[in-house]
Amino acid sequence: MYNQELRPQKELVLCEDGSNTLFSKEFDEPYHSTKDGALHESLEKYVKPAFGIKKEFESLTILDICFGLGYNTFATLYYIKQNNLKTKVHILSPEFDEDLVRSLSTFSFPPEFGFLKPIIKAISENLFYEDEQFKIEILLGDARESVPKIEEQIDVIYQDAFSPTHNPLLWTKEFFADMAKISKTDTILTTYSTAASVRLGLYENGFYIFIHRAELMRYSTVASMKMLEGFEYVDMELKKVRNPTARSFRDEEIKIGK
Ligand SMILES: C[S@@+](CC[C@H](N)C(=O)[O-])C[C@H]1O[C@@H](n2cnc3c(N)ncnc32)[C@H](O)[C@@H]1O
Repeated sequence: MYNQELRPQKELVLCEDGSNTLFSKEFDEPYHSTKDGALHESLEKYVKPAFGIKKEFESLTILDICFGLGYNTFATLYYIKQNNLKTKVHILSPEFDEDLVRSLSTFSFPPEFGFLKPIIKAISENLFYEDEQFKIEILLGDARESVPKIEEQIDVIYQDAFSPTHNPLLWTKEFFADMAKISKTDTILTTYSTAASVRLGLYENGFYIFIHRAELMRYSTVASMKMLEGFEYVDMELKKVRNPTARSFRDEEIKIGK
């Protein structure tokens, strides 16, 4: 059941894949692409490329930026169950909207997440869940403060903040530097953004850039600390020559409103 009183700054939106998302009045943006669909987008742009690359791993530590409705985290668990994987997963997810997370036990998630009800309830009550296979921690507060404090080494980053136009501080070269500091030599990052400024910020922090294509979906970006086989490589040096005015987002310029 959707409870408008719990989310006065948000409106429920039905996506084209039949899953629900919210529209944030504060950020003037939906939480997911309503065309691609919340569940479809999480699976195709985030979970499948990540698990395709990391399929041999027995355990994965994932940084999910930011938790929002939790689709990327829950789609990860759904994918693991669907594919009968034994992968142990530890998910760390910054989020500053505590009321939203606490309201998720009453959100109308798609039927695919039905088996996750006890986990969703635990997260909305305790902001934490743990069993033998999964550990999920909500890092309550500003991601710009919580990410530099992370002590774990991260295998996979889901970069799913509101767009650079509406939430630029979560897309800057400096924020990507904080992510690079907790990355391994083979960390991968998946994101819906294909913006040149975003890709440059990642590239300037040592990530190789690739295009990810999925069916019935706009293409997206996979970034990796090491060269990947089987993905369409984007030559950023060539991009810089062709687009000499493109620049990564910088904290300082955003703060002074440039
Ligand atoms: C696009 S939504 C994330 C959707 C989410 N990945 C999902 O699958 O449901 C962006 C989220 O970032 C959160 N957010 C925005 N700025 C933040 C910040 N500086 N620190 C922590 N959370 C932030 C918002 O509250 C919102 O829940």
